[in-house]
Amino acid sequence: MTGRLGLQIRPATFDDVDGLVRISKSIPELPQWSSLMFRQIVEQVTPDVLRFMPVGEIAGETVAFGVLTLLPGIRPVQGEVENLAVSPEWRCRGFGKVILLRMLDEARSRAAASVHLEVRSRNVAALRLYHSMDFVSIGRRRDYYANPADDAVLLRVHLTGRQEASIASGMIED
Ligand SMILES: CC(C)(COP(=O)(O)OP(=O)(O)OC[C@H]1O[C@@H](n2cnc3c(N)ncnc32)[C@H](O)[C@@H]1OP(=O)(O)O)[C@@H](O)C(=O)NCCC(=O)NCCS
Repeated sequence: MTGRLGLQIRPATFDDVDGLVRISKSIPELPQWSSLMFRQIVEQVTPDVLRFMPVGEIAGETVAFGVLTLLPGIRPVQGEVENLAVSPEWRCRGFGKVILLRMLDEARSRAAASVHLEVRSRNVAALRLYHSMDFVSIGRRRDYYANPADDAVLLRVHLTGRQEASIASGMIED
C-alpha cells in the first residue's frame, strides 16, 4: 500500500539489491556496501544480530532505504541506525523522515529502549532530520571519518514512553 507521500515502504528483498547498490554509488559519503553485504542483510546471516531494511519505492523504482540493527540478546534491547539514504533526485519530499519513522516503529515493536547512530558533524541535512525526531547528542568521535575527514556525532533517542505512531498518523502504510 502507498502512503500519502506516494512512497511505498516495505522490507527489502533480494530483488532490491541492485537498486540499493545504485543508490549507494550515487552518494559517495555513504559506506559503499557491496551486493554481497546487502544480500547478507536481507538474508539475516548473523543469528544474534537482527537487521531490518525498509526500502521506499515510487512506481517500481527504489529511491530510499534504511538499515536498523538490533541486538535482541542484550537487555535492554538497543537499536542502531546503520544506514539511511534517499536518492539525490528524490530528496526534500519527506522520504528520509518516513523511512526513519518506519525504523523507529520497528525498534519500538521489538521492545527496544533506545536507538543510536553516528553521523558526520558536517551533515547538516541528516543532523536536522535526527534532531527533529528527538535524537540528542551523546558524544563525539574526533576524526572518525575519512574522505573527507570529519568528526562523528553520536546521537540517541529514547523510545520508552514515546507514543508517536507514524503508521497511525497516516504518514506511511505497509
Ligand atoms: C539525510 C537524508 C536521508 C534526508 O532525506 P530527505 O528525504 O531529503 O529528508 P526529508 O525530506 O525527509 O526531510 C526531513 C527533515 O530533514 C531535514 N532536512 C532534510 N534535508 C535538509 C537539507 N538539505 N537542509 C537542511 N535540513 C534538511 C529537515 O529538518 C527536514 O524537515 P522539514 O522538511 O520539515 O524542514 C538525505 O539527505 C540523504 O540521503 N543524505 C545522504 C545520506 C546521508 O547522509 N544519510 C545519513 C547517514 S547518518
